[in-house]
Amino acid sequence: VDDPRRLLLIGIGAGEPQLLTQQAVAAIGEVDAFLVVDKGETTGDLARLRADLVARHGRPDARTVVVPEPPRDRTAEAYEQAVQDWLDLRCARFEEALLEAVPPGGTAALLVWGDPTLYDGTLRIVDAMHARGRVAFRHEVVPGISAVQLLVARHGVPLNRIGEAVHVTTGRRLAAGLPDGVDNVVVMLDAGFAAASLPEPEQWQLWWGAYLGTPDESLAAGRLDEVGEQVAARKAALRAEKGWIMDTYLLRRTRP
Ligand SMILES: C[S@@+](CC[C@H](N)C(=O)[O-])C[C@H]1O[C@@H](n2cnc3c(N)ncnc32)[C@H](O)[C@@H]1O
Repeated sequence: VDDPRRLLLIGIGAGEPQLLTQQAVAAIGEVDAFLVVDKGETTGDLARLRADLVARHGRPDARTVVVPEPPRDRTAEAYEQAVQDWLDLRCARFEEALLEAVPPGGTAALLVWGDPTLYDGTLRIVDAMHARGRVAFRHEVVPGISAVQLLVARHGVPLNRIGEAVHVTTGRRLAAGLPDGVDNVVVMLDAGFAAASLPEPEQWQLWWGAYLGTPDESLAAGRLDEVGEQVAARKAALRAEKGWIMDTYLLRRTRP
């Protein structure tokens, strides 16, 4: 019986190369072939960072196999069916890439921004691939430093006060309102600046960071009612300048 293939999901940290853990460095050195998802996006900087990490820590004979991203039909009438078809197609492309990349017993890997378990779709594909059962493989996750850790480290603040809960959410969900009793909120994937819609902004402290761990890093902090507008404006300006933005922030309700 053939050894199953091995697929590593290696978290590379959400910024500078020094965030790579020693475990990630060791894992990169074990890889026979790196799978790279081609999103045809303007993520040139990130693609370059990945290539640098592979050049520095990968084996000289390690290969790179591109996983083409299937086009998405957003106009389809049966929307749910279209999403399912797209996921199936995506899975199939990953399976083909894995089969092509390494023989049974070989090690393939995906380098995942930040940590692979936080707001990243790769593990979902891996799950679906296991469920389809067309390629036998086992997967392993190598944790990475997420944007959340980087944000609070840069500001030198804790994620929560003693004993409190932390709510991690998206801009869209924040805009829809917070559940009761939430005192610490981390917001990711915020296209605009959803914090602007929070009631009682004078009760929230904000710690914001964009392009964390990169040369374009930008930080701001203060009471939401005092700095919120400036942050929203700076975010819009940075996005216009660079063409894309990645930012995240922590909101903490001040104690009465
Ligand atoms: C698809 S999620 C991926 C998160 C990633 N897996 C992690 O562990 O950080 C992308 C979101 O993460 C946040 N993010 C990732 N890297 C960032 C960085 N260097 N600076 C600021 N925010 C970042 C942003 O909120 C962005 O919208």
